[in-house]
Amino acid sequence: MAFLSACKGETSTETQTVTKTVGAGSTVTVTQTAGAGSTVTVTQPGTTVTGTGGGTAPAGLLHLIVNNIDYWGVVEPQWTLAYVLREKLGLTGTKRGCDAGDCGYCTVIMDGVPIESCIYLAIEADGKKIETVEGFNQSDKLTPLQQAFIDNDGLQCGFCTPGMLMTAKALLAFKPKATEAEIREHMAGVLCRCGSYMTIIKSIQSMTA
Ligand code: FES
Ligand code: FES
Repeated sequence: MAFLSACKGETSTETQTVTKTVGAGSTVTVTQTAGAGSTVTVTQPGTTVTGTGGGTAPAGLLHLIVNNIDYWGVVEPQWTLAYVLREKLGLTGTKRGCDAGDCGYCTVIMDGVPIESCIYLAIEADGKKIETVEGFNQSDKLTPLQQAFIDNDGLQCGFCTPGMLMTAKALLAFKPKATEAEIREHMAGVLCRCGSYMTIIKSIQSMTA
């Protein structure tokens, strides 16, 4: 099932219906209409549950707010947030390295806090506000943080850069005048296989001056 999306305040007539087998001959039919405030109706044999878009997802219908865009979709309980972002929403800026919570490449910001999306189940992200590296593309200009990485050679191959940017963004939002020691401690969870640590720290430090 594809995810439907709609920007905040946008009225969308996009609809889709999906029927899933949920075991023992029982099925759940989901009919959904994209758009903030739209109504989502879930019908199971003998039961009808009605929810409102933006509220809690009924019967496995996930609602994610990614970079200020609403998405709804049915997810499998074992799917990670990184998998849904990349494979279902097409937001491949979030990278997967270890898939075990060790490298930090998959870091996204959830409700202001950086998290490793490869070890975070998508169903636990229901109703949460998520920022990915694609959220930097709000205009045709680079953000100051992106520019700082370029000006200070804060990357080589760039594979770790989405995780570095999201982790640094969360730190600077929380602590705009972070010291070098605080930057080093906060960034310790994101590895750089190219070894660009010195210039990455310098890039972030340039934002605190
Ligand atoms: S891919 Fe998530 S921490 Fe490595
Ligand atoms: S720039 Fe290559 S992994 Fe960091």
